[in-house]
Amino acid sequence: MDKFLIKGGNPLRGTVSVSGAKNSALPVMAATLLTADQVTVHNIPKVRDLITMSKLLAFMGATVSITEIPASDYTISTPTLNHAEAPYELVKTMRASILTLGPLMARLGIAHVSLPGGCAIGARPIDLHLAALEKMGAEITISHGYIEAKVPNRGRLKGAHIIFDKITVTGTENILMAAVLADGESILENAAREPEITDLIVMLRKMGACITGDGTSTLRIRGVKELHGTEHTVIPDRIEAGTFLIAGAITGGDLTVANCDPGHLGAVIAKLQQSGVETETVDKSTLRVRPARKLAGADVTTEEYPGFATDMQAQYMALATQAEGTSVITETIFENRYLHASEMVRMGANISVDGRRAVVRGPAELSGTTVQASDLRASAGLVLAGLVSSGETLIDRVYHIDRGYEGIVEKLSSVGADITRIHAPST
Ligand code: EPZ
Repeated sequence: MDKFLIKGGNPLRGTVSVSGAKNSALPVMAATLLTADQVTVHNIPKVRDLITMSKLLAFMGATVSITEIPASDYTISTPTLNHAEAPYELVKTMRASILTLGPLMARLGIAHVSLPGGCAIGARPIDLHLAALEKMGAEITISHGYIEAKVPNRGRLKGAHIIFDKITVTGTENILMAAVLADGESILENAAREPEITDLIVMLRKMGACITGDGTSTLRIRGVKELHGTEHTVIPDRIEAGTFLIAGAITGGDLTVANCDPGHLGAVIAKLQQSGVETETVDKSTLRVRPARKLAGADVTTEEYPGFATDMQAQYMALATQAEGTSVITETIFENRYLHASEMVRMGANISVDGRRAVVRGPAELSGTTVQASDLRASAGLVLAGLVSSGETLIDRVYHIDRGYEGIVEKLSSVGADITRIHAPST
C-alpha cells in the first residue's frame, strides 16, 4: 500500500487548481445509462472512484473512451444494456455504485445491484432509495446480499409524490434519474440541494428531461419517453477547493485556489473568516487565502448544503488544532466520522470526542508520526495536520485519498509542501 511522507512547516504559496467534482461526476456518469446515444462528459477528475464507475458501466455494456488531456473527457455510449447488474466486486470498492439503480430501473425496469453495506464513517442505509422506488411501482426484494428490483411486466416506473424522511444526496440523485423516464409526474420533497444535484439536473435537462426546482428542496419531474445524447462539463470540486483553502490557512500561507466556484463555498469561507483567516474572491472562479494574524477557534456543525459539509469536517478539525481557544465540532450527518481525531491526538492534538461532538483545544504543537488514513476525508485531514507538524508524518493507507483527490501530492508540492508518495513495493 502506498504511503505519504510529509515534512511539515512550509507555508503554501502560489496557485493550485481544482479538478472536477467527484461527487458530481459519479451521478453524471451513471446518468449516461439513461440513453442509447453517446454522451461526452468533460472535467472528470482522475481519481480511482471514477475509474471504478467506468468499469461498472463497461460491465453493463457501455463503451467508455477516455481522453486524458487537459482534464479527463469521457465519451460513453450504451446502445444496449447487457447486464442490469452492479456486482459485489465493484460495489464493495465504491458505494456510489448504488447510483446505477435508478437509471437501470428507468431504462430496463430491472436491476440486480449489490447492497453497499456500511463503511468506516457509519451504517449508511439506502432504505430511502428503495422506499421511493417502491412508491414508483418497483417490486424489491433483498436476496443473497443483492437488491433485486423490477417493474412488473418490465414496464415503466410510475411518477409518484415522494417525501424523503431524511435529506439524502445519492437518494435524491437516484430517484431523479428514475423519475425522468417514468410515466407521469414525480414530486420529490425534502430533496437534497447540493450543487452536485443541480449539476445532474442541468445535464439531464440537456438530455431532454423535464425537471424544475433545482436548488430547492422540492423537485418536479415530468417523465419523458426517451432521453438523447449530450455533452456536459462537470462542476469544480467544492470539497477539494475547501481542502486547499484550509491548507493555505493552516500553514499561514498565501494560496490562490483557481478553477473553483466560490458560490459553492459560502459555509467554508464564513468559517475561515470567523477563525480570522483573510479570504478574497479574486474573480468568479478564483479564491485566495492569506495568513491569519491569529487563528481563533470557532464552533462548527455539519449540515446538508448550504450548511457546512460533513466532507469538510476532518479538514476543519486539523485547522482547529492550530487555533487559539476551544472549537466545538458537531457532526450531524454520519454517526462515526471522527476516526481521524484519535490519529490527530497521536500527533499531539488536544481533542476529546463524545458521541457526535468533538471538542478541540488549541493551539497544539503537532509532531509527526505514523498515522493511518481511515476514509477519504479523514485522510485529507491528516495530510493537513502533517503540513504543520514538526518532523516527519507518514500516512498509511492513502488509497483512501486516491479515491477522491486528483494528484494531491503533485498539487500540494507545486505550492511548496514537502510531501512525497512512497510507492508500495510491487509483489
Ligand atoms: C453523499 O453520500 C456523498 N457521496 C458523501 O461524500 C457525503 O458525505 C454525503 O452525501 C453527505 O453530504 C456521494 O455523493 C457519492 P446521504 P450519501 O444519503 O448520498 C442517511 C465523500 O467523502 N440515510 O446524503 O451516501 C445516512 O445514513 C463522501 O466524498 C438514510 O438513513 O449520503 C446519513 O446519515 C462520503 N437512509 C444521511 O442520511 C438512506 O436511504 C445522509 O446521507 C440514505 C441516507
